[in-house]
Amino acid sequence: MKIIKIEELVKKFGDNVAVDNINLEIEEGEIFGLLGPNGAGKSTIINIICGLLAMDRGKVEILGRDIKKDPFFAKKNIGIVPQDIAIYDDLTAYENINFFAGLYGLRGRSLKDQVEEALEFVGLADKAKSRPGDFSGGMKRRLNIACAIAHRPKLIIMDEPTVGIDPQSRNHILHSVRKLNELGSTIIYTSHYMEEVEEICSRIAIVDHGKVIAEGTNEELKGIVTNTNSIWITVDSTNRLSADQLKAIKGVTNVEIDNNLIKVNSSADINNLDKVILYFIENLVAIKSIESKTPNLESVFLTLTGRKLRD
Ligand SMILES: Nc1ncnc2c1ncn2[C@@H]1O[C@H](COP(=O)(O)OP(=O)(O)OP(=O)(O)O)[C@@H](O)[C@H]1O
Ligand SMILES: [Mg+2]
Repeated sequence: MKIIKIEELVKKFGDNVAVDNINLEIEEGEIFGLLGPNGAGKSTIINIICGLLAMDRGKVEILGRDIKKDPFFAKKNIGIVPQDIAIYDDLTAYENINFFAGLYGLRGRSLKDQVEEALEFVGLADKAKSRPGDFSGGMKRRLNIACAIAHRPKLIIMDEPTVGIDPQSRNHILHSVRKLNELGSTIIYTSHYMEEVEEICSRIAIVDHGKVIAEGTNEELKGIVTNTNSIWITVDSTNRLSADQLKAIKGVTNVEIDNNLIKVNSSADINNLDKVILYFIENLVAIKSIESKTPNLESVFLTLTGRKLRD
Protein backbone atom coordinates (compact mmCIF):
# COMPACT_ATOMS: atom_id res chain seq x y z
CA MET A 1 0.00 0.00 0.00
CA LYS A 2 1.24 3.49 -0.81
CA ILE A 3 1.42 5.58 2.33
CA ILE A 4 1.73 8.74 0.29
CA LYS A 5 1.19 9.75 -3.29
CA ILE A 6 2.07 13.24 -4.48
CA GLU A 7 0.96 14.32 -7.94
CA GLU A 8 2.03 17.44 -9.82
CA LEU A 9 2.46 19.44 -6.63
CA VAL A 10 3.15 23.15 -7.06
CA LYS A 11 3.70 25.88 -4.48
CA LYS A 12 4.80 29.43 -5.20
CA PHE A 13 5.73 32.25 -2.86
CA GLY A 14 5.21 35.27 -5.11
CA ASP A 15 7.45 34.64 -8.13
CA ASN A 16 9.51 32.05 -6.26
CA VAL A 17 8.48 28.52 -7.26
CA ALA A 18 9.32 26.63 -4.06
CA VAL A 19 7.76 23.34 -5.22
CA ASP A 20 7.84 22.87 -8.97
CA ASN A 21 5.58 20.07 -10.18
CA ILE A 22 6.69 17.28 -7.86
CA ASN A 23 5.55 13.65 -8.22
CA LEU A 24 6.46 11.16 -5.49
CA GLU A 25 5.15 7.84 -4.28
CA ILE A 26 6.26 6.24 -1.04
CA GLU A 27 5.40 2.68 -0.02
CA GLU A 28 4.52 1.72 3.53
CA GLY A 29 7.55 0.49 5.46
CA GLU A 30 10.17 2.71 3.87
CA ILE A 31 12.60 5.17 5.40
CA PHE A 32 12.40 7.69 2.61
CA GLY A 33 15.01 10.44 2.42
CA LEU A 34 14.41 13.90 0.98
CA LEU A 35 17.89 15.23 0.35
CA GLY A 36 18.57 18.72 -0.89
CA PRO A 37 20.48 21.93 -0.19
CA ASN A 38 19.12 24.95 1.71
CA GLY A 39 16.06 26.38 0.01
CA ALA A 40 15.46 23.29 -2.15
CA GLY A 41 11.83 23.10 -1.04
CA LYS A 42 11.97 20.22 1.45
CA SER A 43 10.12 21.95 4.29
CA THR A 44 7.56 23.39 1.90
CA ILE A 45 6.72 19.88 0.63
CA ILE A 46 6.52 18.58 4.21
CA ASN A 47 4.36 21.47 5.40
CA ILE A 48 1.90 20.86 2.56
CA ILE A 49 1.71 17.13 3.36
CA CYS A 50 0.96 17.96 7.00
CA GLY A 51 -1.72 20.49 6.12
CA LEU A 52 0.27 23.42 7.55
CA LEU A 53 0.52 25.10 4.16
CA ALA A 54 -1.95 25.21 1.25
CA MET A 55 -0.81 23.93 -2.14
CA ASP A 56 -1.30 25.99 -5.30
CA ARG A 57 -1.85 22.97 -7.52
CA GLY A 58 -1.65 19.18 -7.42
CA LYS A 59 -2.84 16.39 -5.20
CA VAL A 60 -1.57 14.59 -2.11
CA GLU A 61 -3.04 11.29 -0.93
CA ILE A 62 -2.29 9.63 2.40
CA LEU A 63 -3.16 5.90 2.35
CA GLY A 64 -5.31 6.53 -0.72
CA ARG A 65 -7.26 9.47 0.69
CA ASP A 66 -7.01 13.02 -0.64
CA ILE A 67 -5.72 15.33 2.12
CA LYS A 68 -7.97 18.14 0.90
CA LYS A 69 -11.10 16.00 1.14
CA ASP A 70 -10.11 14.23 4.34
CA PRO A 71 -7.72 16.48 6.29
CA PHE A 72 -8.49 14.87 9.66
CA PHE A 73 -7.65 11.38 8.39
CA ALA A 74 -4.31 12.71 7.11
CA LYS A 75 -3.49 14.50 10.38
CA LYS A 76 -4.36 11.45 12.47
CA ASN A 77 -2.01 9.25 10.50
CA ILE A 78 0.93 11.67 10.42
CA GLY A 79 3.39 12.64 13.14
CA ILE A 80 5.49 15.68 12.27
CA VAL A 81 8.81 16.67 13.80
CA PRO A 82 9.11 20.20 12.40
CA GLN A 83 12.39 21.86 11.43
CA ASP A 84 11.86 24.52 14.10
CA ILE A 85 11.33 22.87 17.49
CA ALA A 86 7.73 23.33 18.66
CA ILE A 87 7.36 22.60 22.35
CA TYR A 88 6.09 24.61 25.32
CA ASP A 89 8.79 25.77 27.74
CA ASP A 90 6.30 26.24 30.60
CA LEU A 91 4.99 22.67 30.42
CA THR A 92 7.01 19.70 31.71
CA ALA A 93 8.27 17.10 29.24
CA TYR A 94 5.40 14.82 30.25
CA GLU A 95 2.81 17.59 29.89
CA ASN A 96 4.13 18.55 26.46
CA ILE A 97 3.66 15.03 25.07
CA ASN A 98 0.34 14.70 26.90
CA PHE A 99 -0.87 17.90 25.25
CA PHE A 100 0.05 16.87 21.69
CA ALA A 101 -1.20 13.28 22.08
CA GLY A 102 -4.45 14.70 23.48
CA LEU A 103 -4.90 16.76 20.31
CA TYR A 104 -4.94 13.50 18.38
CA GLY A 105 -7.83 12.26 20.48
CA LEU A 106 -6.03 9.98 22.96
CA ARG A 107 -7.71 9.83 26.37
CA GLY A 108 -7.47 8.06 29.73
CA ARG A 109 -5.36 4.96 30.14
CA SER A 110 -4.13 4.78 26.55
CA LEU A 111 -3.09 8.45 26.70
CA LYS A 112 -1.07 7.85 29.89
CA ASP A 113 0.51 4.64 28.60
CA GLN A 114 1.46 6.09 25.23
CA VAL A 115 2.89 9.30 26.72
CA GLU A 116 5.10 7.21 29.02
CA GLU A 117 6.09 4.94 26.17
CA ALA A 118 7.09 7.94 24.03
CA LEU A 119 9.16 9.45 26.88
CA GLU A 120 10.90 6.14 27.37
CA PHE A 121 11.44 5.76 23.64
CA VAL A 122 13.36 9.03 23.30
CA GLY A 123 15.36 8.38 26.48
CA LEU A 124 13.77 11.16 28.55
CA ALA A 125 11.84 9.09 31.11
CA ASP A 126 13.96 10.54 33.92
CA LYS A 127 13.14 14.07 32.72
CA ALA A 128 9.35 13.60 32.73
CA LYS A 129 8.83 16.31 35.36
CA SER A 130 11.44 18.75 34.04
CA ARG A 131 10.61 21.75 31.90
CA PRO A 132 12.42 21.93 28.54
CA GLY A 133 13.76 25.44 29.23
CA ASP A 134 17.00 23.95 30.60
CA PHE A 135 17.25 21.11 28.06
CA SER A 136 20.08 20.93 25.54
CA GLY A 137 19.18 21.31 21.86
CA GLY A 138 19.38 17.55 21.43
CA MET A 139 17.06 16.88 24.38
CA LYS A 140 14.53 19.41 23.08
CA ARG A 141 14.66 17.70 19.71
CA ARG A 142 14.07 14.31 21.32
CA LEU A 143 11.11 15.72 23.27
CA ASN A 144 9.76 17.09 20.00
CA ILE A 145 10.05 13.60 18.50
CA ALA A 146 8.16 12.13 21.48
CA CYS A 147 5.35 14.68 20.88
CA ALA A 148 5.13 13.50 17.26
CA ILE A 149 5.04 9.75 17.92
CA ALA A 150 2.89 9.27 21.03
CA HIS A 151 -0.30 8.80 18.96
CA ARG A 152 1.51 6.04 17.01
CA PRO A 153 1.13 7.52 13.53
CA LYS A 154 1.63 5.36 10.45
CA LEU A 155 3.74 8.08 8.80
CA ILE A 156 6.39 10.01 10.75
CA ILE A 157 7.94 13.01 9.05
CA MET A 158 11.16 14.44 10.42
CA ASP A 159 12.41 17.73 9.00
CA GLU A 160 16.19 18.01 9.56
CA PRO A 161 16.01 16.55 13.08
CA THR A 162 19.78 16.45 13.62
CA VAL A 163 20.75 20.02 12.71
CA GLY A 164 22.73 21.78 15.42
CA ILE A 165 22.72 19.07 18.07
CA ASP A 166 25.41 17.09 19.90
CA PRO A 167 26.70 13.80 18.43
CA GLN A 168 25.17 11.72 21.22
CA SER A 169 21.65 13.03 20.58
CA ARG A 170 22.25 12.69 16.86
CA ASN A 171 23.08 8.99 17.23
CA HIS A 172 20.09 8.56 19.51
CA ILE A 173 17.81 10.11 16.88
CA LEU A 174 19.19 8.04 14.00
CA HIS A 175 18.76 4.92 16.14
CA SER A 176 15.14 5.94 16.96
CA VAL A 177 14.38 6.42 13.28
CA ARG A 178 15.42 2.85 12.58
CA LYS A 179 13.54 1.52 15.58
CA LEU A 180 10.32 3.41 14.74
CA ASN A 181 10.58 1.95 11.26
CA GLU A 182 11.06 -1.57 12.63
CA LEU A 183 7.99 -1.02 14.82
CA GLY A 184 5.96 -0.40 11.67
CA SER A 185 6.04 3.31 10.89
CA THR A 186 7.00 4.70 7.51
CA ILE A 187 9.46 7.57 7.84
CA ILE A 188 10.10 10.59 5.66
CA TYR A 189 13.43 12.04 6.67
CA THR A 190 14.68 15.33 5.27
CA SER A 191 18.27 16.39 5.53
CA HIS A 192 21.08 18.13 3.77
CA TYR A 193 23.56 15.71 5.38
CA MET A 194 24.11 13.10 2.72
CA GLU A 195 25.97 10.79 5.17
CA GLU A 196 22.83 10.40 7.30
CA VAL A 197 20.56 9.83 4.37
CA GLU A 198 22.97 7.24 2.92
CA GLU A 199 23.12 5.51 6.28
CA ILE A 200 19.44 5.12 7.13
CA CYS A 201 17.23 5.59 4.06
CA SER A 202 15.85 2.78 1.94
CA ARG A 203 15.03 5.20 -0.88
CA ILE A 204 16.05 8.76 -1.55
CA ALA A 205 14.76 11.66 -3.63
CA ILE A 206 17.26 14.41 -4.36
CA VAL A 207 15.47 17.76 -4.45
CA ASP A 208 16.87 20.94 -5.94
CA HIS A 209 15.09 24.22 -6.80
CA GLY A 210 11.72 22.64 -6.03
CA LYS A 211 12.20 19.67 -8.35
CA VAL A 212 13.02 15.99 -7.80
CA ILE A 213 16.18 15.65 -9.87
CA ALA A 214 16.88 11.99 -9.05
CA GLU A 215 15.19 9.21 -7.13
CA GLY A 216 16.09 5.67 -6.13
CA THR A 217 18.00 3.56 -3.65
CA ASN A 218 21.42 4.71 -2.53
CA GLU A 219 22.99 2.21 -4.92
CA GLU A 220 20.79 3.28 -7.84
CA LEU A 221 21.66 6.91 -7.29
CA LYS A 222 25.37 6.19 -7.09
CA GLY A 223 24.97 4.35 -10.39
CA ILE A 224 24.47 7.78 -11.95
CA VAL A 225 28.13 8.58 -11.26
CA THR A 226 29.86 5.24 -11.72
CA ASN A 227 31.05 6.60 -15.03
CA THR A 228 33.03 9.18 -13.06
CA ASN A 229 36.42 8.65 -11.41
CA SER A 230 37.32 11.01 -8.65
CA ILE A 231 40.85 11.54 -7.35
CA TRP A 232 41.88 13.83 -4.52
CA ILE A 233 45.38 15.21 -4.65
CA THR A 234 46.98 16.98 -1.68
CA VAL A 235 49.81 19.39 -2.41
CA ASP A 236 52.06 21.82 -0.49
CA SER A 237 50.87 24.86 -2.32
CA THR A 238 48.37 25.54 -5.10
CA ASN A 239 50.06 28.78 -6.25
CA ARG A 240 51.25 27.34 -9.53
CA LEU A 241 48.00 25.47 -10.27
CA SER A 242 45.10 26.49 -12.45
CA ALA A 243 41.73 24.74 -12.33
CA ASP A 244 41.11 25.81 -15.93
CA GLN A 245 44.32 24.17 -17.16
CA LEU A 246 43.42 20.97 -15.30
CA LYS A 247 39.93 21.05 -16.80
CA ALA A 248 41.51 21.26 -20.25
CA ILE A 249 43.05 17.79 -19.82
CA LYS A 250 41.14 15.25 -21.87
CA GLY A 251 38.49 13.39 -19.82
CA VAL A 252 38.45 15.83 -16.86
CA THR A 253 34.85 16.81 -16.08
CA ASN A 254 35.23 18.87 -12.92
CA VAL A 255 38.00 20.40 -10.79
CA GLU A 256 37.63 21.84 -7.34
CA ILE A 257 40.45 23.46 -5.39
CA ASP A 258 39.88 23.50 -1.64
CA ASN A 259 42.96 24.94 0.15
CA ASN A 260 45.71 22.41 -0.56
CA LEU A 261 43.34 19.71 -1.76
CA ILE A 262 42.53 19.37 -5.45
CA LYS A 263 39.55 17.22 -6.41
CA VAL A 264 39.62 16.08 -10.01
CA ASN A 265 36.67 14.24 -11.58
CA SER A 266 37.14 12.45 -14.89
CA SER A 267 34.97 10.22 -17.03
CA ALA A 268 35.74 6.61 -16.20
CA ASP A 269 36.14 5.56 -19.83
CA ILE A 270 39.15 7.85 -20.34
CA ASN A 271 42.40 6.91 -18.64
CA ASN A 272 44.05 10.27 -17.97
CA LEU A 273 45.69 9.76 -14.58
CA ASP A 274 49.18 9.96 -16.11
CA LYS A 275 48.33 13.28 -17.79
CA VAL A 276 46.89 14.72 -14.58
CA ILE A 277 49.98 13.73 -12.58
CA LEU A 278 52.25 15.04 -15.34
CA TYR A 279 50.53 18.43 -15.09
CA PHE A 280 51.56 18.67 -11.43
CA ILE A 281 55.13 17.56 -12.17
CA GLU A 282 55.55 19.96 -15.09
CA ASN A 283 54.31 22.85 -12.96
CA LEU A 284 56.69 21.87 -10.14
CA VAL A 285 53.86 21.24 -7.68
CA ALA A 286 54.91 18.71 -5.04
CA ILE A 287 52.26 16.02 -4.49
CA LYS A 288 51.86 14.92 -0.86
CA SER A 289 49.18 12.30 -1.38
CA ILE A 290 46.74 10.93 -3.94
CA GLU A 291 43.45 9.26 -3.02
CA SER A 292 40.93 7.59 -5.26
CA LYS A 293 37.38 8.36 -4.11
CA THR A 294 34.37 6.11 -4.50
CA PRO A 295 31.14 7.87 -5.44
CA ASN A 296 28.71 9.09 -2.77
CA LEU A 297 25.51 11.12 -2.83
CA GLU A 298 27.58 14.31 -2.75
CA SER A 299 29.20 13.36 -6.05
CA VAL A 300 25.77 12.43 -7.45
CA PHE A 301 24.52 15.90 -6.56
CA LEU A 302 27.62 17.54 -7.99
CA THR A 303 27.29 15.59 -11.23
CA LEU A 304 23.60 16.47 -11.60
CA THR A 305 23.78 20.15 -10.67
CA GLY A 306 27.42 21.23 -10.91
CA ARG A 307 27.11 22.47 -7.33
CA LYS A 308 27.89 21.15 -3.87
CA LEU A 309 25.14 20.01 -1.53
CA ARG A 310 26.54 22.12 1.28
CA ASP A 311 28.42 25.39 0.90
N1 LIG B 1 6.76 31.29 4.19
C1 LIG B 1 7.53 31.56 3.13
N2 LIG B 1 7.38 32.73 2.48
C2 LIG B 1 8.14 33.05 1.39
N3 LIG B 1 9.06 32.22 0.86
C3 LIG B 1 9.25 31.03 1.47
C4 LIG B 1 8.49 30.64 2.62
N4 LIG B 1 8.89 29.41 3.00
C5 LIG B 1 9.84 29.05 2.12
N5 LIG B 1 10.05 30.01 1.20
C6 LIG B 1 11.00 29.92 0.06
O1 LIG B 1 10.74 28.71 -0.63
C7 LIG B 1 11.93 28.07 -1.02
C8 LIG B 1 11.99 26.68 -0.41
O2 LIG B 1 12.16 26.81 0.99
P1 LIG B 1 12.13 25.57 1.98
O3 LIG B 1 12.12 26.13 3.36
O4 LIG B 1 11.02 24.66 1.60
O5 LIG B 1 13.53 24.89 1.66
P2 LIG B 1 14.28 23.71 2.44
O6 LIG B 1 14.68 22.72 1.42
O7 LIG B 1 13.43 23.24 3.57
O8 LIG B 1 15.58 24.45 2.97
P3 LIG B 1 16.40 24.28 4.36
O9 LIG B 1 17.35 23.13 4.17
O10 LIG B 1 17.14 25.58 4.48
O11 LIG B 1 15.42 24.06 5.46
C9 LIG B 1 13.06 28.99 -0.59
O12 LIG B 1 13.41 29.77 -1.70
C10 LIG B 1 12.44 29.83 0.51
O13 LIG B 1 13.06 31.09 0.57
MG1 LIG C 1 13.72 23.16 5.56
